[in-house]
Amino acid sequence: MTEHFDVSAVRTEFPVTKRMFYLDSAHQTPLAGSIRSALNDFYAEGHESAGPKPVWLRRVEQTRAQVATLINASPSEIAFTKNTSEGLNIAANAVPLKAGDNVLLIEGDHPNNAYAWLNLKRKGVEVRFIPLTTEVATAETFAPHIDSRTRVISLSHVTFHAGHRHDVASIGRLCQQQGIYLIVDAMQSIGVIPVDVQRMGISLLAAGCHKGLLVPQGLGILYVKEGLDELQPAYLAMASMAKPPADYIAQPDDLTPRKDAGRFELGNMNLPNLHALSASIDLISKLGVENIEEHVLELGDRLIEHVDAQAIRLVGPRTRGNRSHIYVLDLPATEWTEYLAQNQVRVSPERDGIRISFAMFNTIDEVDQVAEIIRRRGAQTKEARAVE
Ligand SMILES: Cc1ncc(COP(=O)(O)O)c(C=O)c1O
Repeated sequence: MTEHFDVSAVRTEFPVTKRMFYLDSAHQTPLAGSIRSALNDFYAEGHESAGPKPVWLRRVEQTRAQVATLINASPSEIAFTKNTSEGLNIAANAVPLKAGDNVLLIEGDHPNNAYAWLNLKRKGVEVRFIPLTTEVATAETFAPHIDSRTRVISLSHVTFHAGHRHDVASIGRLCQQQGIYLIVDAMQSIGVIPVDVQRMGISLLAAGCHKGLLVPQGLGILYVKEGLDELQPAYLAMASMAKPPADYIAQPDDLTPRKDAGRFELGNMNLPNLHALSASIDLISKLGVENIEEHVLELGDRLIEHVDAQAIRLVGPRTRGNRSHIYVLDLPATEWTEYLAQNQVRVSPERDGIRISFAMFNTIDEVDQVAEIIRRRGAQTKEARAVE
């Protein structure tokens, strides 16, 4: 395996790697040392002086610029939110939809994406769940389901439940041809798999920061493509106004929101996490997202060799370009999660098996050792279990 960056140096950032095989970054990433230091510095400033708020706010703008660079957007296209769900709900309420319009989703995608759109049923908007019949979704998955009232396609870039990496760029081209908004949930991919909002033709993108972006829960990002001025915020606060009143007295005759993505921001922000996010993007950019992607794919290549040798079925895609850092093995989830935990292996139970997810700090040696722990117990496929 080629080293795409100094993995042992990265591991010193994550002391958890000394205590266990941490293969659960699709659930939550452990806190890196440098990110914890950024939080500590922020808390020290707050503790000593209640904070230099103008300095903190300048740093928020720096962080906004870092996020923009990470996804090939401009800073004016980035808003900060609380999490993915908030971003998706902002999107669902901003797109001008009328009764009879329809929205296309992939069957079985994350429920937070589905609920944001299903909530529009009370306005007469139809939500169509499209079955996934190919390894990942492409333009062809959606094309036959589009009609004159289709306004939105919304899907995860990488799925949490089996690690499909949908072909968002081809779906983006289709949406551009048909005048459809493309909304993407990048919660699982951001920070691990390259995301380029321009190349992918994305209208709005929502993500939380507590997985690939390595920040504790409670901060999200929302990308809103420039020029989509018809997308208007469902909520207003001073932060969202084009001309916030200097005397702090609301102006009932001027309700014009900002033109940039900041029109979707409300009130004070999660300042500690914004400081953490800046440190996290520094760490990720130093390694390079393309290198992190290549690293997790190589761990996946090795894991697939092992599961094939043990005749364990991989639930998600096998093709390299359709994969990510998430691998679900068809093993009974509860008993195997427990067994692995007893052997200091942290994974998540998932709807179709156990979910192994990689991050920048995992190694080939860990994959080999975990495969050996699995082999010791002896896996049985679902078919073999059914025969018994
Ligand atoms: C694809 C995807 N979307 C959304 C979420 C979570 O949404 P939120 O950030 O609102 O908690 C997760 C997992 O936590 C996820 O895997």
